Amino acid sequence: MHFPVPAALEAEIDALIARYPQKRSASVMVLHALQDHFGHLTAEAMEWTARKLDLQPINLLELVTFYPMFRRQPVGRFHLKVCRTLSCALAGSHALHHHLCTKLGLNPEAPGPQTTPDGRFTVEFVECLASCHTAPVLMLNDTLYEKVTPAQADQLLRQSS
Ligand code: FES
Repeated sequence: MHFPVPAALEAEIDALIARYPQKRSASVMVLHALQDHFGHLTAEAMEWTARKLDLQPINLLELVTFYPMFRRQPVGRFHLKVCRTLSCALAGSHALHHHLCTKLGLNPEAPGPQTTPDGRFTVEFVECLASCHTAPVLMLNDTLYEKVTPAQADQLLRQSS
């Protein structure tokens, strides 16, 4: 199966693999590099990675389904990840998630990531973001926001428009 990895990206990935005594150890880093470039990880991306690392595609699928930072579907330009683990749940993260979904016309009850039809925003629940003492927290792309109120969430949406 053909998976078009640009030459420069493949060279970057080859350099990553060369840093590890065993090719397999580079799996997570290779997947990150592919996701950074393509936005998400398709079955073709995992098959390509498996060939590169002398693994089976299932070995990559196990990683992609285990680690929440990996995505198998495209996400919006602004990706909101709301923590739903205990401290954040007790501090109102479910109400925050509901608020964001409602504001964006998404279904808060639907499972998994929800993306607006224009592809701008994705909202999803994630597990602990390791900032339990500042609950509720969310991430907007790579930035963590702490003690987030619905009003602050609205501000984030406005800033991201
Ligand atoms: S429970 Fe939300 S950051 Fe840990």
